[in-house]
Amino acid sequence: MANALAGTAEIGIVGAGAMGAGIAQIAAQAGHRVCLFDNGIGAADRAKAKIAETLATLAAKGKIDRAAADAASSRVAAVHALGDMVSAKLIVEAIVEDLAVKRNLFREFEVVVGADTILASNTSSLSITALAAGMKRPGRVVGMHFFNPAPLMPLVEVVSGLATDPEVAATVHATAKAWGKTPVHARSTPGFIVNRCARPFYAEALRVLAEQAADPATLDAIVREAGGFRMGPFELMDLIGLDINVAVTRSVWEAFFHDARFTPSVMQHEMVAAGYLGRKAGRGFYDYAANATKPAPSMEPSQQKPGNVTRHGALRMGADLAARIASSSVTVDTAAADPRFPQGALQVVGNEGDATWLIPGDGRTATAVAAAAGVRNVATFDLAFDYATCTRLAVARADTCADAAFAAAVGLLQACGIVVSRIDDVAGLVVLRTVAMLANEACDAVTQGIASAGDVDLAMQKGVNYPRGPLAWADALGPAFVRDTLIHLAAHYGEDRYRLSPLIARRCASEGKLSE
Ligand code: NAI
Repeated sequence: MANALAGTAEIGIVGAGAMGAGIAQIAAQAGHRVCLFDNGIGAADRAKAKIAETLATLAAKGKIDRAAADAASSRVAAVHALGDMVSAKLIVEAIVEDLAVKRNLFREFEVVVGADTILASNTSSLSITALAAGMKRPGRVVGMHFFNPAPLMPLVEVVSGLATDPEVAATVHATAKAWGKTPVHARSTPGFIVNRCARPFYAEALRVLAEQAADPATLDAIVREAGGFRMGPFELMDLIGLDINVAVTRSVWEAFFHDARFTPSVMQHEMVAAGYLGRKAGRGFYDYAANATKPAPSMEPSQQKPGNVTRHGALRMGADLAARIASSSVTVDTAAADPRFPQGALQVVGNEGDATWLIPGDGRTATAVAAAAGVRNVATFDLAFDYATCTRLAVARADTCADAAFAAAVGLLQACGIVVSRIDDVAGLVVLRTVAMLANEACDAVTQGIASAGDVDLAMQKGVNYPRGPLAWADALGPAFVRDTLIHLAAHYGEDRYRLSPLIARRCASEGKLSE
């Protein structure tokens, strides 16, 4: 294993914008002398002053030691020529996202710095292989991809191009770790790990919205309160900027030669065309005008507690929900599994004798489940991160389901303290299809050697705050259940987008785990 760069090693940062300044702060706090260069007049000096201000504020709040803050500030120097970085052992560029400009910069460095100086790029979308092409020593070029805001976000993707020397990647990995970050290794392919594997988080929500199954506020609430994600997809897109989000999706889609997995959303494209770019434009999926009121997520009106509930089989996806119901004020009888509902089922009988089958979603619509089982009253419930504690669940109702029967199912969940958000009868509901597609993409990244399973899961937790790595989550659900969900989605839409990752099929056959 390579060692981290010594604490005395000088670090050069080129580009003193949001990312460069953040990376400079991290390196200085880790004890390095940092040279900061920017071709904007006064930009490096302004960034140096800003870093000192940030560190002073952290010290004033008691988050860091005052002497340590002063020492870190004094280690940052604004320099005014690339030649001032000759002694640097690691150069990190965080300049404009343009391949030609970044290549020129690295070529200029080649003649200035020592043979062992590592040239790292903070690019989030450009190929490290392409960046290194044509250089005298392409082995020293590597990606060092921080997340915004760099001082706060733990993840660093250490990205190797075809020519990157493994020792160089290992040194950068060890250095990022020494700086208190969580580094992962990734191969240089479009989107690296996070920007690729996160696409379904936005894409599936956009699909459900485009099918008019629910509004953004309801979908966001479902993803947060049932899915356990810190932010819903629409509020997050508004924060990132729809133009940025669509540009990342487009670049991954184009780089994969228009693979249907990554097809951008027509609706999102329209919003960008209209200038509805999110918070920064005052309008995105939500209205940010001063007098605007935030729309409330939809919820079903209060229904009576059902008279009687029978659980058939083990209730595959919602075992904790079954336990939660059993410990509520509703009496639950148990019965043998019903072969029509292989994932288990709750038969809920309302006070007026209307009975409905409440089934864990499995990628089919509730209407399709009802038709296949030869019954009319079916409702499906969505995946939750933790059924024992979730405060909301999405429920879909078969087109054939009677009002009173559906009300009984709603009353059951409400009796357990769960807010029910009814969505239109869309295949795969909301959280379930999102998690299944996140796991599918993660599996493809592992299959293609982009990163190890452990690093993919770590990256999604530390780079985008997912409550659980998608592979570990799929393992908890059971790879066969995730497989069946994806097969149902593929059959429902008839689209290549939902094709099964070979790794899922393989692990199902061997009864192995996806996260190992
Ligand atoms: P920014 O626009 O805030 O800062 C870029 C800085 O680089 C500016 O101060 C500019 O004057 C300077 N610059 C541009 N061309 C230069 C050159 N040829 N030589 C020296 N200085 C030059 O941009 P930001 O957001 O800091 O992004 C920088 C890089 O980091 C880009 O490659 C971006 O893709 C990547 N990145 C950005 C993230 C973000 O969320 N903003 C996250 C991760 C990576």
